[in-house]
Amino acid sequence: MSNYKRTLITSALPYANGPVHIGHLAGVYVPADIYARYLRLKGDEVVFIGGSDEHGVPITLKAKNEGITPQDVVDKYHAMIKDSFRRFGISFDIYSRTSAPVHHKTASEFFRKLYDNGQFTEKISEQYFDEETQQFLADRYIVGTCPKCGFERAYGDQCESCGTSLSPTELINPRSMLSGNTPVLKETKHWYLPLDQYEPWLREWILEGHKEWKPNVYGQCKSWIDGGLQPRAVTRDLEWGVPVPVEGAEGKVLYVWFDAPIGYISATKELTPDWEKFWKDPETKMVHFIGKDNIVFHCIIFPAMLKAEGSYILPDNVPANEFLNLEGDKISTSRNWAVWLHEYLDEFPGKEDVLKYVLTANAPETKDNDFTWKDFQARNNNELVAVLGNFVNRALVLTNKYFGGEVPARGELSAYDRETLEAISQIREEVEKSLENYRFREALKNAMDLARLGNKYLADEEPWKVIKADPERVKTILNVCLQVTANLTIALEPFIPFSMEKLRGFLNLEKCAWQKLGDAGLLPAGHRVNEPELLFEKLEDAVIEKQVQKLLDTKKANELAATTAVPAKECVTFDQFGAMDIRVGTVLEAEKVAKTKKLLKLKIDTGIDKRTVVSGIAEYYQPEELIGRQVCILINLEPKPLKGIESQGMILCAQNADGDLVLVSPVKKVKEGSEVK
Ligand code: 2FM
Ligand code: ZN
Repeated sequence: MSNYKRTLITSALPYANGPVHIGHLAGVYVPADIYARYLRLKGDEVVFIGGSDEHGVPITLKAKNEGITPQDVVDKYHAMIKDSFRRFGISFDIYSRTSAPVHHKTASEFFRKLYDNGQFTEKISEQYFDEETQQFLADRYIVGTCPKCGFERAYGDQCESCGTSLSPTELINPRSMLSGNTPVLKETKHWYLPLDQYEPWLREWILEGHKEWKPNVYGQCKSWIDGGLQPRAVTRDLEWGVPVPVEGAEGKVLYVWFDAPIGYISATKELTPDWEKFWKDPETKMVHFIGKDNIVFHCIIFPAMLKAEGSYILPDNVPANEFLNLEGDKISTSRNWAVWLHEYLDEFPGKEDVLKYVLTANAPETKDNDFTWKDFQARNNNELVAVLGNFVNRALVLTNKYFGGEVPARGELSAYDRETLEAISQIREEVEKSLENYRFREALKNAMDLARLGNKYLADEEPWKVIKADPERVKTILNVCLQVTANLTIALEPFIPFSMEKLRGFLNLEKCAWQKLGDAGLLPAGHRVNEPELLFEKLEDAVIEKQVQKLLDTKKANELAATTAVPAKECVTFDQFGAMDIRVGTVLEAEKVAKTKKLLKLKIDTGIDKRTVVSGIAEYYQPEELIGRQVCILINLEPKPLKGIESQGMILCAQNADGDLVLVSPVKKVKEGSEVK
């Protein structure tokens, strides 16, 4: 397909300021992993690079909020992220980090080379400064109102509401994230990459030379280039990051988006002394897997940096994905609206492939997509269990039952047998074409179509019925089914590798090269297979409902956090307050008031008397849990008949923001009749 000799696959370096979630997996790491596994299976020379992005303002802000150092933050999340990827089987050749010394050195030297060659412009400009903390306010250290959409919490580098990329001075009503103060403008010197000078070259290289890039990627590049590129500052007044290696640049570091992509180079250096062949030989094909918010950095800024440096290759493709939403809402770390990978791994042990399968089958390749737990359950039960698992299980069970686990020889072939064997021979071309074009959901569908076909063939041929009258015929049927199964271990290997390893174990089959896909004689007659176990398990409703409930709880917690208290009422006098006689009492009896949903009838020992109170708390408390409990009761409220019962007082409750009532009780037991003042 191409004249390249080897492939360098990079996957976006996630910020080490939080755990990774399904959006990361679906957008970047699953497709990159499928591609890497496919090329390796073909025998190609591949390196697959990953690592944590450990600089940038979100990390220092988090450290400040938690009272720890930025290094503590990145150490914690780097370990967590790396572990989640390992458990999911993301097959990086290296998972590095940008706080590594090799990265600091590489990024520093890269900057210095451009600096020495006069590739930067130096500019003194006025930037926002927080006088209280004596600090310049770069990027996310500053918030204000977005000039485009009016969102009041837009950051100094981007508005997360409308996605516009911003500079701090564009913000209306800017405020410091450190002190909340209005910042002042102060002069500072920075180095800029003159992107405007690269415009004709970028136009030629991308808009003319890479028309095959995905429409979402090409379209974003076109609109950036057509919009007119501006010089871009590549340094910042911050302490956390790679120091700017120039005299007179004390207190300045490289902009995180300058150093992060160089992280791909540093990681390759860390991996192999032979790193240069991956970065400098035009016979290397470089592919960047990223999310759509990273397009400009990987298609315009990083290539301009590489071009300026002069000795590096450029990406052949940048197959960026759109975003994955969760149950109809944007995934958000701050709102805890996510399925966290470490939690999934703990709650669904052994089901790593299931999530990878679902995220590929529903990948946000051409538009934003939605992950729902119901769809997750349906794809597991209807596709992995009912089609793939069911087919291979029956083929193996029947081979063991009828032929003692020996692959039977094929006899005379029917038209249907030939058609099925023909499908095996065509599968490679179909899956390969999709994979080579980064259409992973289509590739998975094509591969699964072979399982669908096998399952249908088996169901149509009904060997369990034929066995009595024509055992010879069953030999042919099972041989065909086993050849389909063996081919599936290759076709599905890049997508669900743990399960295919298991299946190869059932088949007693070594891992086959990709080129073997299509061979209808992978399992010769007489080859022995093993007793199978189930490849996939059905997911019951209760398991899924638990996950849905978890999200509903998150939603509720978010809504509660967002509501503000009702405004204060008018002042009362001391005497007015003193006129209310509130006592602590103990609940002696409790029962539901017939024909009502909300009312409970309570008998309360007030220390003065034992009286009846009707209270509207039946939706929040069961009668039996109230017996013996102490409550606060307003005893001099005039009696009132409620549903034919005279209520002699009122029980005090706090009303939560969601309307729920919560009883107010003394925090330790006191004597009945104690006054509440
Ligand atoms: O968007 C992000 O999560 C960035 N940390 C991606 C960086 S990709 C590369 F340049 F390192
Ligand atoms: Zn906006």
